[in-house]
Amino acid sequence: MTRALGVSWPIEEVRREFPALERTVAGQPVVYLDGPGGSQMPSVVIDALANYWRQGSANTHGAYITSQLTDRLIEDARAAAADFLHAPAGATISFGANMTTLSFALAEAMSGVLQPGDELVLTDLDHDGNVAPWLRLAQRLGLVVRWAPMLPEGGTLDLERLLGLIGPHTKLVAVVGASNATGSVTPLAPIRARTRDVGARLVVDAVHWAPHLPIDTAAVEPDFLLCSAYKFFGPHGVGMLYAAPGAFRGLAPARVRPQVDTPPECIETGTKNHEGLAGLVAAIDFIAGWAPGEPGSRREALTAAMERMGAYEAELFGVLWEGLGGVPGLTRYGRAPDGGPRAPTVSFAVAGLPTPTLGRILGDQGIFVSAGTFYAHNWDLRLEAQGGTGAVRLGLAPYNTLAEVHRAVGAIQEAVRTAG
Ligand SMILES: Cc1ncc(COP(=O)(O)O)c(C=O)c1O
Repeated sequence: MTRALGVSWPIEEVRREFPALERTVAGQPVVYLDGPGGSQMPSVVIDALANYWRQGSANTHGAYITSQLTDRLIEDARAAAADFLHAPAGATISFGANMTTLSFALAEAMSGVLQPGDELVLTDLDHDGNVAPWLRLAQRLGLVVRWAPMLPEGGTLDLERLLGLIGPHTKLVAVVGASNATGSVTPLAPIRARTRDVGARLVVDAVHWAPHLPIDTAAVEPDFLLCSAYKFFGPHGVGMLYAAPGAFRGLAPARVRPQVDTPPECIETGTKNHEGLAGLVAAIDFIAGWAPGEPGSRREALTAAMERMGAYEAELFGVLWEGLGGVPGLTRYGRAPDGGPRAPTVSFAVAGLPTPTLGRILGDQGIFVSAGTFYAHNWDLRLEAQGGTGAVRLGLAPYNTLAEVHRAVGAIQEAVRTAG
């Protein structure tokens, strides 16, 4: 099946920015379909890291030029991240090693304001980075955990049941913005409204949301939101925590004595990844650079660029979803493209073909996918209960092409035919 895409997207120009796309395996160009595990990096981001080192690496607050440049870089990175998340600049953005580390730090910070018997709502769809820190806290403090289930199709949260779990004893709801396992996007507005009614905090995991759809903290108004730069063209080791103004009030993050106790530094333990922050600024500017026309502010450019990328990804995803649907014995998890908002990510299993085997067959042909559970631990337990062995996951990025999608679907079809 071949089909031309209707959306206008300068795919060749985009691809030239990513040196990793030149890699070949078995004489064929690599197809990177593991974007949910981490995107490839454009040259401007690679250069930004190297340029930081070249100019002279330094620690902060010194009376010398490279240290002052580092201080300025940190401020620039907070401003860029604030634009990316549509947050007030400055104190709302804290940095850490990655989403998971920040999430544990946040849970620790919250320990002083929770009492035995207080309730937390966690979900069956979340990555464990937004579950384990809260479970650990619950075990330590004697909190009650209420689990929000998925719809029977196995990849989307059951919103009604989730809302029904939020009551007068709920102190915190931790929920995924877009599932890294199935791509489903969670409607956050009703969850925010309900948590506000009962005075509970809302923590949003935006790691898989960030590469695909504009994030608007001004509209969603979470108390906390977390994401990670390596999923949207940035480097590893740069996690971001958005905290609403005043959200740290009454909390006690673990910190060394000389560290200030006010945001954004109060939860930033030790030296930051300065070169990584240079990469983060470059990644955010790289995204903004794909805005059509002449948008005004960087925030406007980011929104327009992400909508444009998202439209391309969505159209490509429609072809992928349809193609996989035609493979005999293959079960796709999660909602169909016309079933509600989603990221361009699909997981599936094939009867009689273990997922690690299929992952290896594709990898040997230069088609890089994930096969396993993707740390969406409870989701995987649900699949196990249905007799599954984890899943194979394909996730699209703006540098993927229609030809790559056809090649991946063809390779899966062939693997299934050979196994059967
Ligand atoms: C949805 C989601 N949440 C959290 C994480 C954890 O992020 P990090 O690797 O930055 O700790 C991931 C990583 O894959 C993810 O996809």
